[in-house]
Amino acid sequence: MPEVKLKGVSKTFPGNVVALHKVDLSVKDKDYVVLLGPSGCGKTSLLKTIAGIYPPTEGEVFISGRNVTRLPIEERGVGMMFQNYALFPHLTTEKNVEYGPTMRELPPKETKSIAHKMLQLAKFPLERANSLPIELSGGMQQRVALARALASQSSLLLLDEPLSALDAKIGEELRLELRCLVKKLGLTAIHVTHSQEEAMSTADTIIVMNQGSVMQVGSPEEVYFNPANLFVADFVGEANFFEGEIKPAHSNPKLFVRFLGKDFDLSKAKSSKLSRGAEKVVVVFRPEKLVISKRKPYHENFVHAKIESRRFMGEKIRYELSSGASQIVVKRMGFGKSFQVGDSAFVSFDASDATLFDLPREHWEKLVGRQTV
Ligand SMILES: Nc1ncnc2c1ncn2[C@@H]1O[C@H](COP(=O)(O)OP(=O)(O)OP(=O)(O)O)[C@@H](O)[C@H]1O
Ligand SMILES: [Mg+2]
Repeated sequence: MPEVKLKGVSKTFPGNVVALHKVDLSVKDKDYVVLLGPSGCGKTSLLKTIAGIYPPTEGEVFISGRNVTRLPIEERGVGMMFQNYALFPHLTTEKNVEYGPTMRELPPKETKSIAHKMLQLAKFPLERANSLPIELSGGMQQRVALARALASQSSLLLLDEPLSALDAKIGEELRLELRCLVKKLGLTAIHVTHSQEEAMSTADTIIVMNQGSVMQVGSPEEVYFNPANLFVADFVGEANFFEGEIKPAHSNPKLFVRFLGKDFDLSKAKSSKLSRGAEKVVVVFRPEKLVISKRKPYHENFVHAKIESRRFMGEKIRYELSSGASQIVVKRMGFGKSFQVGDSAFVSFDASDATLFDLPREHWEKLVGRQTV
């Protein structure tokens, strides 16, 4: 059964363009894995290296325990759906889907029956099986591309931005169908996207990449609430970043951090990523972990703030507040007492919802905006 392992895989293109840098990765059998990262970070290169389209410059690829690094594409047993669907424009829908089974020289009757079955699974209207790709909507073409990848009958499915050409609503529908289908057929899937929402809602496991390297591997919850570094905290969902300073401990076992103009006891914060002896830190909070109230909280973990903007987002309301020179983003459920622009409020938090990182030397201003200690 297809588990996938990469050991020290690098891919460098002429001109010293590093697409992958020493990637170590392990994908479990029957897992729905979503590869998430910004444009150009190496997602497609990683899929193509697993598929055998790109030979790695360095390192090894294993599928189901077998070293496939030197094996051609057709012997790796993968089904791939490309970023730009890559349907054959001169072939009908049916012929496009029959491509894989035909290449495997299956009898014509079986080939046809596989194609029909896969088109049905991909919920493609069979009466359009004789249409050319150009005659189909983007959503339909996507379904054909999926049916064609499934028709390879391999249990490892590599999907490169399979939903990127669709409008939000259809994309949302199709991504859930895609996950259901993969689960129903017991396949292993590696699905590439740069949409963190798509990743969150479909993945068993998310792999976050940046600049050719793997930044974090974990469940959607782990990646969201326990980001491995500032890049992940920033790329996956929204976050507040506050610059802070650790107060000298003397003999005090507690961890006091000064940020937002006050000293807070952050002994319960997630601080495993802090290096020993760190003085300058970044304090990270997800916006839904901060609380706004009109009444002063009974504990000490609060700051005074003023509501600067209020945006209704359906289930949630997103507030931007100012506290001194800092900006704070808070999201809260859309019902209950609501705040208006100009209102004074208290922003409070539970210290265990904070994550601490070392203050990076550069590119920091981009994250933190106007916030100061
Ligand atoms: N065939 C190629 N020849 C030369 N350089 C390439 C080739 N394929 C990819 N690259 C380079 O490798 C890097 C990673 O590209 P890749 O296509 O893997 O990124 P990606 O994460 O899939 O981006 P996107 O989200 O835009 O699709 C980029 O700098 C790209 O220009
Ligand atoms: Mg790509």
